[in-house]
Amino acid sequence: MPKKIILDCDPGHDDAVAIMLAIASDDIDLLGITCVGGNATLENTKLNALKICSLLNRKDIPIYAGSDKPLIYDLVTAEHVHGKSGLDTDGEPINLDPSHRIEEMSAIDFIINECKNAEEPIYLCPTGPLTNIALCLQKDPSIKDKIKEIVLMGGAALCLGNITPAAEFNIYVDPHAANVVFNSGIEITMMGLDVTHKVNVNDEIINSIKTNNNKASVFFADLMEFYSRFHRELYETGDCPLHDPCVIAYLIDNEIFKGRKVHVQVEENSDLTRGETVVDWLGVKKLNPNCNVITEADSTRFFKILKKELAKLN
Ligand code: BDR
Ligand code: CA
Repeated sequence: MPKKIILDCDPGHDDAVAIMLAIASDDIDLLGITCVGGNATLENTKLNALKICSLLNRKDIPIYAGSDKPLIYDLVTAEHVHGKSGLDTDGEPINLDPSHRIEEMSAIDFIINECKNAEEPIYLCPTGPLTNIALCLQKDPSIKDKIKEIVLMGGAALCLGNITPAAEFNIYVDPHAANVVFNSGIEITMMGLDVTHKVNVNDEIINSIKTNNNKASVFFADLMEFYSRFHRELYETGDCPLHDPCVIAYLIDNEIFKGRKVHVQVEENSDLTRGETVVDWLGVKKLNPNCNVITEADSTRFFKILKKELAKLN
């Protein structure tokens, strides 16, 4: 049976790849895409989600808009990585089908309704700041029982932060929301920078996927060429971490990844370490583990799946 998921995202180049992978895979039943302000403003992230689904000819996938700002802080965007639109490329601009529109219901109500009406618990897959998910849990805590697992991209447990020395972008943007999620008691798997920096694209992989020669794979190459530029400069290598699709790949084949259940808490206030995911590896606080922190990945297996799945799309 395919896993029923809601992808809560802020597209975003790597979010776009996560969307494509979720649409392509027969192991995933994508109930809807919900957008949040993050890499770009909500106006742009929802427009980008529409564009991606238009390009794939998948107007049937409902897209909802959630929160345009974090619970408490002002929104911080990542134009330096994703460009002004949140999805800049050097390639052909995507033509948006004007009949493809954002749903009227809010992302928060959509997630709550889907959980409540689900026969079997569903998966929530956040690949942006956790604001929408926290708002759902605050509005209707009873949905917890209908969430099988939250598999999220965010945090950094062993390695360096990417927006500050201490913090990963998604958790930094809304640390209060992150704590609502980590403290919810729901099963959580965290794909942080520790693992996503082991799933790197480079020219060889981009060119190999491009040889699929369909729209989605050429779009993937366009996206990666723009997105790699920032990472190549920062990390001074030809490798570029492909963060968000790790969430979907985990649901397709969890044997690609390895991690450990530990207790995680997020720093909310400090100027220096806001958004740091503080992981109690040694269990010194004797708290119950609340999160499966993934640290290892088999990237060859990951890219084999990605290439095969993208080939199935438009
Ligand atoms: C995360 O931040 C965003 O820029 C990416 O889309 C990813 O979700 C990586 O830190
Ligand atoms: Ca993202």
